[in-house]
Amino acid sequence: MAACVRTFLLPICLLLLFGVLQSKAWEVAVKDKANKTCLYASIMLNITIQYETNNGSFNNATLASPSEVKHNGSRCGTATLAPLLFVDLGRGHTWSLNFTRSNSSYEGNVITFTYNTTDAELFPDGKPNGTVITETPAVPQLFTSIPLKTKYKCNHPDLIQVDNVVQIYWNVILQAYIENGTIGENVTECDADLSTTAPPAPTIPASTPAPTKPTPSKPSAGTYSVKTGNETCLLATMGLQLNVSQMRSPVNINPNTTSSSGHCDNHTATMVLNDSNTGAIEFGFVLANGHFHLENVTITLIDQPFESFANNNLSYWDATLGSSYMCLKQQTIGVGTNVSVNVFDVRVQPFQVKNGIFSTAQECSLDDDGILIPIIVGASLAGLIVIIVIAYIIGRRKSYAGYHTL
Ligand SMILES: *[C@@H]1O[C@H](CO)[C@@H](O)[C@H](O)[C@H]1NC(C)=O
Ligand SMILES: *[C@@H]1O[C@H](CO)[C@@H](O)[C@H](O)[C@H]1NC(C)=O
Ligand SMILES: *[C@@H]1O[C@H](CO)[C@@H](O)[C@H](O)[C@H]1NC(C)=O
Ligand SMILES: *[C@@H]1O[C@H](CO)[C@@H](O)[C@H](O)[C@H]1NC(C)=O
Ligand SMILES: *[C@@H]1O[C@H](CO)[C@@H](O)[C@H](O)[C@H]1NC(C)=O
Ligand SMILES: *[C@@H]1O[C@H](CO)[C@@H](O)[C@H](O)[C@H]1NC(C)=O
Ligand SMILES: *[C@@H]1O[C@H](CO)[C@@H](O)[C@H](O)[C@H]1NC(C)=O
Ligand SMILES: *[C@@H]1O[C@H](CO)[C@@H](O)[C@H](O)[C@H]1NC(C)=O
Ligand SMILES: *[C@@H]1O[C@H](CO)[C@@H](O)[C@H](O)[C@H]1NC(C)=O
Ligand SMILES: *[C@@H]1O[C@H](CO)[C@@H](O)[C@H](O)[C@H]1NC(C)=O
Repeated sequence: MAACVRTFLLPICLLLLFGVLQSKAWEVAVKDKANKTCLYASIMLNITIQYETNNGSFNNATLASPSEVKHNGSRCGTATLAPLLFVDLGRGHTWSLNFTRSNSSYEGNVITFTYNTTDAELFPDGKPNGTVITETPAVPQLFTSIPLKTKYKCNHPDLIQVDNVVQIYWNVILQAYIENGTIGENVTECDADLSTTAPPAPTIPASTPAPTKPTPSKPSAGTYSVKTGNETCLLATMGLQLNVSQMRSPVNINPNTTSSSGHCDNHTATMVLNDSNTGAIEFGFVLANGHFHLENVTITLIDQPFESFANNNLSYWDATLGSSYMCLKQQTIGVGTNVSVNVFDVRVQPFQVKNGIFSTAQECSLDDDGILIPIIVGASLAGLIVIIVIAYIIGRRKSYAGYHTL
């Protein structure tokens, strides 16, 4: 999760969380004076922090769940002092949760997360701002009304946000107020797991955490090129948005953080767009029978480099050699099961680019009905003018004829 720990988009982190390379849960067993376990927890937790950078812009960093944590500050609790699960996440970041109980059940009370803004590994370009403490009531759905003497389990992801900090919990196992060091044999599952018909983790249901997936704004179009030596051989402008089912919402490719590379030869051309926040999208073009088209698209997400999504049998963006292809409408290119890329305002020329500029554009048929309306309006206007002119001529002839008979 190295890149996730660096700057990262939350949805991508979500994807990674529930993707193939899962981070490990940390496990804590707090012991009492008699060396018996009084508090047990195994939790997957990722925390994303939006922070201010040196130049005043904002960036996201994700602190992934380490597999080993220290829990020296934890305590079993007494009649007057609440039990406390205190976890040292390393480099000055800590997380804790205390509990309250009634006769038959207990619940989490306050989650305290403290982070160290001077940690250059997590905030490489961050403006050092000392230690920040965030406190929030324990996630209601996750840590409420847990029966005593049972092992509580919740695989379903749960998200909590306080200001600029988003915490995502999943695969939680918890028991507080353990008596005699015996972890309950009875298991209590959280409501979210019980109401999920599909197997819970590792796939995050589309409805989590928000009931509707937010749709991001239209992505800004970037201009990308590929060179052979000093000559531009491939030219493209387009706005791109990745839609992967596990993501909380589709993610826009930011041209400002995206570089292009690739290669061109006589019959094939490749363009790789590498967004340092998201991953790489590779476009493969093929030239055949005087036409080019987009034949394959491969998406590789950062930190999931061994699992890419590809479609090698596409036939998009067809145009004749020597021209460029253009489409102003949104296109959705399916790349895998529930993996697609939305393309906006594309203009591309993968072959025979002259002097680094686009040749004449061939527009996609999708754009045609956009042109159709002006054509219809124009044709109607022209028709109207013809009718008026004819009416005028007839009118003049009539009046001329009338004058003549006088
Ligand atoms: C507590 O028990 C564990 C084994 O369950 C043992 O390794 C450890 O040394 C014990 N600690 C103390 C302080 O007795
Ligand atoms: C600020 O720095 C980040 C990288 O640290 C960069 O991506 C961004 O473009 C910069 N913004 C400005 C306004 O310079
Ligand atoms: C950081 O995350 C927040 C919340 O998900 C998002 O709105 C914002 O665009 C992200 N910022 C960057 C620079 O990725
Ligand atoms: C839990 O911790 C918070 C923050 O330290 C504190 O305000 C709250 O009173 C504690 N709850 C209990 C039941 O002790
Ligand atoms: C915060 O991080 C800096 C840099 O890694 C480190 O020197 C400092 O000790 C950390 N602060 C705490 C409270 O651990
Ligand atoms: C713990 O031990 C006490 C006395 O030894 C006993 O009364 C009680 O039922 C035990 N509780 C559990 C959960 O085993
Ligand atoms: C890219 O950078 C330009 C200039 O710094 C800025 O106006 C624009 O909003 C940025 N685009 C995105 C998507 O962040
Ligand atoms: C590519 O085309 C050029 C000019 O048509 C030709 O000179 C060259 O040998 C071709 N290269 C390959 C690898 O076919
Ligand atoms: C590629 O797609 C075409 C039609 O679009 C189909 O006829 C052909 O079988 C496909 N090839 C593969 C390898 O899937
Ligand atoms: C993203 O893909 C899902 C299906 O996997 C679809 O229902 C949704 O409309 C798509 N969203 C966008 C913005 O393309």
